[in-house]
Amino acid sequence: RGVAGVGPDLAGLRLVVSAGGTREPLDPVRYLGNRSSGKQGYALARTAVARGARVTLIAANAGLPDVAGADMVHVQTAVQLREAVLAAAADADAVVMAAAVADFRPAVYASGKIKKVDGRDPEPVALVRNPDILAELSATRPKAGQLVVGFAAETDDVLANGRKKLARKGCDLLVVNEVGDTKAFGSEENEAVVLSADGSEHPVPYGPKEALADTVWDLVAERLT
Ligand code: CTP
Ligand code: CA
Repeated sequence: RGVAGVGPDLAGLRLVVSAGGTREPLDPVRYLGNRSSGKQGYALARTAVARGARVTLIAANAGLPDVAGADMVHVQTAVQLREAVLAAAADADAVVMAAAVADFRPAVYASGKIKKVDGRDPEPVALVRNPDILAELSATRPKAGQLVVGFAAETDDVLANGRKKLARKGCDLLVVNEVGDTKAFGSEENEAVVLSADGSEHPVPYGPKEALADTVWDLVAERLT
């Protein structure tokens, strides 16, 4: 294993990937969203299909073409993403949460468009917590022996925050990358360190998102056999 593109080395595996960013509606025309492009998650799905796996790609608002050969599920919100991920995870050997899940959603959904009122300040928007899908999966492991992989985009103390997050989430691998105004979001390339619950660290040099995806699948495959 470990050499991408030489054959169907992931054949027989069922893999689930979430990608994109959730949108949390405020009213019929507005939502809280984030800057995730979905490209890294789609690259994970494409490379897994190319390596022979059976892949379910759960896509949140990525606006990218469906991945040929993957089972596609499209969702909008964190609550919908949780339902879709848990359903697909029931018989998955590994689940990779590349999606940017909104931590909060508006407490109230206004069924009609929110309008301005002359001379009045706007009402503050109350938020409530969304479910933590990665932590839930890590704690419950819908299929025995299932591997769970998270992603973390950090702006400061990237490795230290990544280590803490890996422990807090309880996942097996955490792909950590540094983000800023120009880094990672929307770009075709990425640079990351994959942290493992066994204490090892795997740096992935700046390069195409496919290369990072292949490294993630190498590490997953190693841990499943
Ligand atoms: N994640 C999730 N459900 C959430 C939030 C995050 O499954 N409600 C997953 C993401 O898909 C990602 C990982 O958790 O794989 C880390 O996301 P991140 O936002 O970095 O972690 P948080 O615990 O939300 O921490 P922070 O307060 O730094 O945002
Ligand atoms: Ca978060």
